[in-house]
Amino acid sequence: MNKTRHINTLVLGAGAAGLFAAMHAGGDALVIDHARNPGEKIRISGGGRCNFTNTRTGPECFLGANPHFHKSALARYTPWDFLDLVQKHGIAWHEKTLGQLFCDGKATQIVAMLMGEAQAAGAEVSLQTTLVEIAREESGFRAVIERLGKRETIHAARLVVATGGKSIPKMGATGLAYRIAEQFGLSVTETRPGLVPLTFPDRFSGLSGVALPVRAQPDGPAFEEALLFTHRGLSGPAILQASSYWREGAEIRIDLAPDGRLAEALRAARRTDGRKALKTVLAQHLPARLVEAWAEDHPMPGNMADQSDRAIDALCGALRDWRLVPAGTEGYRTAEVTLGGVSTDALSSKTMEAKSVPGLHFIGECVDVTGWLGGYNFQWAWASGFAAGTAI
Ligand code: FDA
Repeated sequence: MNKTRHINTLVLGAGAAGLFAAMHAGGDALVIDHARNPGEKIRISGGGRCNFTNTRTGPECFLGANPHFHKSALARYTPWDFLDLVQKHGIAWHEKTLGQLFCDGKATQIVAMLMGEAQAAGAEVSLQTTLVEIAREESGFRAVIERLGKRETIHAARLVVATGGKSIPKMGATGLAYRIAEQFGLSVTETRPGLVPLTFPDRFSGLSGVALPVRAQPDGPAFEEALLFTHRGLSGPAILQASSYWREGAEIRIDLAPDGRLAEALRAARRTDGRKALKTVLAQHLPARLVEAWAEDHPMPGNMADQSDRAIDALCGALRDWRLVPAGTEGYRTAEVTLGGVSTDALSSKTMEAKSVPGLHFIGECVDVTGWLGGYNFQWAWASGFAAGTAI
């Protein structure tokens, strides 16, 4: 029988939240992950440049059953704290838009930074390692882990669960955190894909590749960003943002001319371009392929000079309040995040520790706190990891 190894902290998941917690856990921490490499989602994030935080982070940029839960952790570890760390490591960065901070170089710089910091803090990271069993013991947790066919029994005073959500199963997402929560009697709120393209079978395939700035309004806040037509439906930042608020059967309202100047421009064109077709002038303001497709459903007869104020207002009204009911989403296969998760009712907002199971912490994406697109989800991973790590 193998001897039991005693450690202070066992962290499940060497992703953003797990590595960050290990960095602050005061040494004697073992981080295990079944993947070959740590931080794989960091590596592919932000198109390979990692949108590592957002300077506009505020509580309103997160979804979850309790809109107050995340405030405390986010206030104690801010985007500026993470930026200090990035600068300390000499990682060059830039602001892209809307407060989104990206690496100038590769996202793997962030992974290397986290691994270096975690190891310097005395944490050991064991990859290709799975959890076989976990149970509560009087003074902590007993875990059986397996690496390359070899099993080891660990006794840890604290267990930090940071195995993420269900998105992108191809990259190793497993939903283990939810099973552990249920094993220990914690409730898990309904989970569903978030930041995910919306599907409209056979509807927009002819427009695939067309992109334009829009204002997308689900049953929630409105997002003014780009929309992209795809073979399967709609994507682009505005739609990904809206998808997190969308529920099956609900409609999404799209403003295709969000700057509010289209009607005025068309009225002016009656004088300057009176002999041009309405479609031709409209295509100076919207992508031509979209105008063609729009005209199939909404006939646009006549030249500009023929257009009454009423006709212009009706056209702009329809373009600015386009109502669509998506058939569904592309699901976890392409979703950037998982909405819902370990119920925040069950956790301390200061330490992320389960109220009913001392020593058990849940952090990162597995918790029912989900950020908007734009670096907010990593900021939650850092802040919740910091809250748990510093409480250990
Ligand atoms: P994360 O998923 O990072 O880590 C979980 C770890 O647990 C993984 O290493 C996994 O291998 C391991 N694991 C899972 N199950 C296990 C098991 N059964 N046994 C052992 N180990 C297990 N966010 C953002 O703020 N800015 C961005 O630019 C992007 N970009 C982006 C792009 C794409 C394509 C995706 C899919 C996602 C993003 N995100 C993002 C979201 C962001 O990646 C996500 O919110 C964080 O990675 C969550 O961090 P966690 O540490 O909670 O989970």
